[in-house]
Amino acid sequence: MKPVIIVHGGAKDISADKVAANQAGCLAAVEAGWNVLHRGGSAAAAVEAAICVLESDQTFNAGFGSTMNSAGEVEADAAMMAGATLAWGAVAAVQGVRHPISAARKIMEDKPRFLVAKSGERFALEHGLEMCAKEDLVSQEQYQEWKAEVEVLDRPNTVGCVALDVNGNLVAGTSTGGTTGQPQGRVGDTALVGCGLYADNRLGACSTTGDGESIIPVVLAKTAIDGLAGGSHPDQAAQRAIDTLVARVEGEAGCILLDRQGRMGWAYNSSDMAVAYMAEDLPEPVAFTGKNRPAAIA
Ligand code: GLY
Repeated sequence: MKPVIIVHGGAKDISADKVAANQAGCLAAVEAGWNVLHRGGSAAAAVEAAICVLESDQTFNAGFGSTMNSAGEVEADAAMMAGATLAWGAVAAVQGVRHPISAARKIMEDKPRFLVAKSGERFALEHGLEMCAKEDLVSQEQYQEWKAEVEVLDRPNTVGCVALDVNGNLVAGTSTGGTTGQPQGRVGDTALVGCGLYADNRLGACSTTGDGESIIPVVLAKTAIDGLAGGSHPDQAAQRAIDTLVARVEGEAGCILLDRQGRMGWAYNSSDMAVAYMAEDLPEPVAFTGKNRPAAIA
């Protein structure tokens, strides 16, 4: 099977001065994932590698630079799902875990469970994952915005990645700091299987981004995956899933989708979404935001 990887940096408004950072961040993430995939590595390793890059980049709302809750703290959610076995792992409202996606992968490969707050933090610590002071995940920009209570125009959102490896295995991963000013302990869609992500080798894999309270009732990731049944193109299935959200609830969302043949698609109803992808037949990775989406999609 020819490997493919696609990442998103969140469905959001991207102001002109942040387009380059969003594209560069997504490009770096897809390159990290591709580095794993094209050497024959697993889709899970590629998704983790790509999301770790996004979690390290304060441009994105995941890991370092996450948006802050009402108490001025970062609480992170992340999940991973493997399409071969339907195994999954998730953490929510964890603090001081440098890479929440690594905790999600470890849980998935250990014993599928959803570990929240101290339980997720303890798991990460006990399994040798990188820990930090909870303040270390707060970027200056997020802190200044939180302190000044400014209205955040570039509303940051969740990041995600889906990959298909040489063995035909699909994996999806998603990571977020939640919503700006959210109450302590609020958990959105990101770590919920079916909502923030889904992977099934029989159909495809999907990672979503956007307003959790809108994504959850339409089970967005599973809705997008179900749209692949009968051989629909992922672009159509992704658009139909977003159309379902728009028809049934208010809110903004986006999704990226790969089918089991490695065809890709994405859709969103926010003004922008940064996306990057790479596949065997491409000379180099492609990255763009909604404002400069290429006319022809590979
Ligand atoms: N999609 C991120 C959240 O609602 O928490």
